[in-house]
Amino acid sequence: MFHQAFPLLTESLATQGWAVIPEFLQDRQARDLAAESLSLLKQGQFRQAGIGRGDDLQLRQDIRNDHVLWLYPETESPAVQHWLGLVEQLRLALNQQLYLGLFEYEGHFAHYPAGGFYKPHLDRHRDTDQRLVTLILYLNDGWTPDAGGQLRLWTTPGKATGPHQIIAPQLGTLVCFLAGDYWHEVLPAQQPRLSITGWLRCCPR
Ligand code: OGA
Ligand code: MN
Repeated sequence: MFHQAFPLLTESLATQGWAVIPEFLQDRQARDLAAESLSLLKQGQFRQAGIGRGDDLQLRQDIRNDHVLWLYPETESPAVQHWLGLVEQLRLALNQQLYLGLFEYEGHFAHYPAGGFYKPHLDRHRDTDQRLVTLILYLNDGWTPDAGGQLRLWTTPGKATGPHQIIAPQLGTLVCFLAGDYWHEVLPAQQPRLSITGWLRCCPR
């Protein structure tokens, strides 16, 4: 399996540190993931997301108020298996082309309720410094500008000011950036918003 967007993605990551790929996933596959995510949400499997990790984990609903459910590789969901397979191909492609030494993937479904947001942040801090590359896949069919919920990605490494991209969380769009370098935020969403956010990590846990 070789995805036609891999060369563009690798090239963008190498030259500018970030990439946005609309229609990375076909509609049918993205819809299957959205359906899986909604069904798990309805079953009450998601948890309020926190900041930090392990003993440091804090719920800070003034900073982020989404709900998440970690993906696990043993899942029987064909949609999730397909996604994990694609990410594995991407991991190998990035290692081959950019010598990143990416070791594994960790990812979660995320649900922002209406009014949901995530204030400006970096994805990498003391407890998560093994995260090298962030991958965000959006799962919202027919998202319109008035629904808000865009990702703002500042494109100057290390800065949360200046030039930035505003990215709609549209079904099948993939966003990718170097986790330690790029500040970003989720603007308030007026409607429930679904995604899979994850990280390619450098070393075993
Ligand atoms: C995150 C995050 C952005 C998005 O979960 O760390 O920044 O657009 N998500 O969902
Ligand atoms: Mn983030």
